[in-house]
Amino acid sequence: MRYRTIGDGRTSFDVSTLCLGTMWMGTRTDEATSFAILDRFVEAGGTFLDTANNYNAWGLGHGHDSEDVIGRWLASRSIRDRVRIATKLGAAKKDPALPLSTSEPTNYQGLAADIIARESRESLRHLGVDHLDVLYGHVDDRDTPLAETVGAFGELQDAGLVGITGISNVAVWRVVEAREEAIRQGIAPYGLVQQQYSFIHPAPKPGRMNFVTPELLDYAAASGVDGRPPLAVTAYSPLHQGSLARPDKPLWGGVDHPTTHARIRLLHEVARDVGATPNQVALAWLLGGEVPVIPVVGASSVAQLDEILGAAELDLDASVRERLDAEPMERLAAA
Ligand SMILES: NC(=O)c1ccc[n+]([C@@H]2O[C@H](COP(=O)([O-])OP(=O)(O)OC[C@H]3O[C@@H](n4cnc5c(N)ncnc54)[C@H](OP(=O)(O)O)[C@@H]3O)[C@@H](O)[C@H]2O)c1
Repeated sequence: MRYRTIGDGRTSFDVSTLCLGTMWMGTRTDEATSFAILDRFVEAGGTFLDTANNYNAWGLGHGHDSEDVIGRWLASRSIRDRVRIATKLGAAKKDPALPLSTSEPTNYQGLAADIIARESRESLRHLGVDHLDVLYGHVDDRDTPLAETVGAFGELQDAGLVGITGISNVAVWRVVEAREEAIRQGIAPYGLVQQQYSFIHPAPKPGRMNFVTPELLDYAAASGVDGRPPLAVTAYSPLHQGSLARPDKPLWGGVDHPTTHARIRLLHEVARDVGATPNQVALAWLLGGEVPVIPVVGASSVAQLDEILGAAELDLDASVRERLDAEPMERLAAA
């Protein structure tokens, strides 16, 4: 396993470069399997865990299921100090009687100060911990003034309840404004942005703000120097939920277009040539990019995790990266 430092200019700590996503733990993935996956991750040197206060309230659970599993696992293993826990708030159900949806109307709680104060403490309680290493806003909230959201995160940091803050599913300009607002208020700015990202890309669509863009990577690359506080990018669904390697998995989320099919073929060719699996190459591509990204990757079995762990130290040499990054339209034309 490899490690990198994340921070916000005031607080910093090391995390494993692979972050384990726990979204299905306690619902689709039963507790015994979840514990086995968590044990294996830590045994392999993994230290970074990702959860949220709404996993998974859109179908099978009440919302805190994954936090509860992690809480029981931490208590039974007594290893709180060996892991860094990131959770998220703002996208749990505002009205518990209504369904949660990712499209309008979403029924999200949002990022008002009272929600942040209350829900962060709820996450502490469910996880059974006295501080959250990372707390993200799960979705942007344009109806609440940024000054209020940022101020509420700052209060949690002042109280020692939260280390680094971050934001997810957000436009780049909103990240910039929030970080500038934090600095104006004398608060540590967001140090992490979590967006969807994998080796395949969705077709552009107005309003699609939840994907890692070249602009976000450029902004992250320019952070941490010249007085700009650091900013790291974490990528959710880095295996596109299995569809990079498995024909049984749908190409959801606007990615089912010819470029994607060409890139998936290329991924498989490269994997054969380097003696790795397509999933491993896809993760190594994220980890070793010009702007390294932390994959937040899920596994529903220890066997899946073992394959994922094989990516942690897989280095793609420059010629392989060049091949992977070749203009997909040129490849399509040549096919
Ligand atoms: N910020 C956000 O809004 C947001 C949104 C979504 C997710 N997340 C975070 O990101 C994490 C990962 O996201 P994700 O689960 O959507 O995507 P993912 O990591 O791309 O996909 C995980 C799924 O891929 C399949 N898989 C994993 N390893 C495999 C292997 N070795 N061989 C074959 N299939 C394999 C499994 O599907 P099966 O279980 O079907 O076998 C697994 O559940 C979540 O746990 C969560 O922490 C954040």
